[in-house]
Amino acid sequence: MAGPEKIFFTYNDIHKTIKKMAVQIGASGYEPELMVAIGTGGFIPARILKTFINKPIYTVGISYYDMENKPKDSPQKIQWIDEVEKKLMGKRILLVDEVDDSRVTLEYCLRELLKHKPAEIAVAVLHNKQKEKRGTIPAAVTHYFSGIELADKWICYPWDAVDIDQQDRFALEQNKGLSKA
Ligand code: G4P
Ligand code: MG
Repeated sequence: MAGPEKIFFTYNDIHKTIKKMAVQIGASGYEPELMVAIGTGGFIPARILKTFINKPIYTVGISYYDMENKPKDSPQKIQWIDEVEKKLMGKRILLVDEVDDSRVTLEYCLRELLKHKPAEIAVAVLHNKQKEKRGTIPAAVTHYFSGIELADKWICYPWDAVDIDQQDRFALEQNKGLSKA
């Protein structure tokens, strides 16, 4: 059952949030030349964003949890960009992920990408959880875009759903609850 401690989003919700973010990005004047998507949660958001901003996507894999689901001392690269200097140096980058939670993975990724001397770097996340963050966004980051600001609840994404019709039902029920409130 959909509980109050969880928030459900449909693919439609996600698409609309990203469209809204694309408008925010355009209005800010920031013109990214490429996206870097943090896997795996950032893959689908980056691909949808490409429909609106039409820039290439590079992907990175970062793991912050061990086999027992406990956080490691620091995130580690499990996959990184080939010929990274050539691809990133002097470029305007948009780092894309689904959620800004503890911010630890985001900070790690931003610091690693900044080592490759981009012209500029910005962040776009679908959802930012309003909570005390353990990581920080480095000062060199020029823009931070979040689609929706949320309370610190567990977000259920459609790409994690085994039963997509149930996901849609839970999202619908939850939205009815909100409109009654
Ligand atoms: P952050 O820097 O972006 O805040 O990430 P953090 O290290 O805190 O997040 C650790 C993992 O937990 C990430 O997944 C992130 O996507 C996931 N996560 C955090 N909050 C939520 C949530 O509310 N719902 C869901 N579904 N996931 C959440 P990961 O280990 O990188 O794996 P992946 O799922 O992206 O492949
Ligand atoms: Mg993730």
